[in-house]
Amino acid sequence: MKLLRVQVPQFRVLKDVDLSFEKDFVPSIFPLGSLNGGGKSTLLQLIFGLLHCSSDPERLPYLQNLLASFKVKNSEEMQTIAKFEILDDDQVFEVEFLSFHKESVKSESFNILLESEINPETKRKQVIKTSGTLDIFTETISSFLKRKNMLYITYFLTRKYGTDLVNYPCALACKINSLNQVINIQTFLKNLSNKIFLIAPSSQVFHFIEKEQTRLLFNKEKAYSQYQISLDEVKTNLPNFFTYDFIAVNQIVKLFENARDKDFQKAVKTGEYGNSYQKLLNDLNLLFSPKKINVTPDLNGVTFKMKIDGEEIELYPEDLSHGELKRISIYAWLKSQNIENSIILMDEIENGFHPDWHYQIISDLEEWSPTNQYILATHSYELCQALTPSHVKELSPKLLK
Ligand SMILES: Nc1ncnc2c1ncn2[C@@H]1O[C@H](COP(=O)(O)OP(=O)(O)OP(=O)(O)O)[C@@H](O)[C@H]1O
Ligand SMILES: [Mg+2]
Repeated sequence: MKLLRVQVPQFRVLKDVDLSFEKDFVPSIFPLGSLNGGGKSTLLQLIFGLLHCSSDPERLPYLQNLLASFKVKNSEEMQTIAKFEILDDDQVFEVEFLSFHKESVKSESFNILLESEINPETKRKQVIKTSGTLDIFTETISSFLKRKNMLYITYFLTRKYGTDLVNYPCALACKINSLNQVINIQTFLKNLSNKIFLIAPSSQVFHFIEKEQTRLLFNKEKAYSQYQISLDEVKTNLPNFFTYDFIAVNQIVKLFENARDKDFQKAVKTGEYGNSYQKLLNDLNLLFSPKKINVTPDLNGVTFKMKIDGEEIELYPEDLSHGELKRISIYAWLKSQNIENSIILMDEIENGFHPDWHYQIISDLEEWSPTNQYILATHSYELCQALTPSHVKELSPKLLK
């Protein structure tokens, strides 16, 4: 699965975005640059939100949170939120997400929904729970969109452009060229949702998290720890969303367990143990050279050995540096989750790395998991220099030379 093109007419700070990620470029790694506030994180989150959340009812609230800042124009019957070209098994699919509003649908149930939204904070929750209202609404909009060969995904509440109207109800729909049956669109989106990943720093503001939660980040008293709790909850609900965590120990242990099991299975089949454990050890030692890594015999943790003034000392994960931990956490994440043939969106990958490692991370990704496509939001010239200038994509206003 590869993302070949993304177009976003208007979303938050993004305007007339049209980026291509060429399918024949080797490696399939594309840095994405812009000035601070240029929209890189917004774009990655929009891509992830639409492609990971739209096929699963449990994930729809996150999509609704994200789309709450999409501005609806009354003058247009429908508006494109984003359009993607996705390569799947040598076939290119045009996947378009559109928004509709009550004037375009001319539905009584849209009006009912709107009425109940007059008092925003309290009524919003009520409407979500009022299945009666939602059922009529969903039914009406679904059949309206079906006639247009589109799949109804969810309603969302947003701001109406040029008015004071907030919590204005809209519908999100998806259209895919060559897939006219709604059921086929559903299957395609389901498949796609398993193949798209977002990894970002945990201190990032995520627009798919409820506003009240993201505000905690800026509240001195309650602060960061509460935001972290809600972030953990989001991570359990969105299986392909990760943050660069310090503690990758369980994932590394999992790698050792997998290698051990593989070797044992080979022994059962052929009478001889395989070399998966040794290979993993070699790979990890290369990653940490000159430190030597190993798993504890009880498979409860990992240790590192290094020589200082000729004397060997033992280190634990908490003794490693921020950059070392981040590098191993990316490695362990890709390997332990077995992420292959997927689209991986990575935000601020280079933070905490020495410029040599900015450069190095490109060949790392290529070596660790070459079947994936990577889109890396970055500010690093060293990282870009590890690729050709054509690999590097920019959001306007363009960066200074
Ligand atoms: N509703 C909105 N409409 C328009 N712009 C918005 C809206 N909300 C936030 N912004 C702006 O969008 C920008 C945030 O963009 P984003 O975080 O995607 O940038 P970035 O390229 O990732 O920046 P950085 O490199 O600093 O991480 C901010 O400048 C913010 O003021
Ligand atoms: Mg950013």
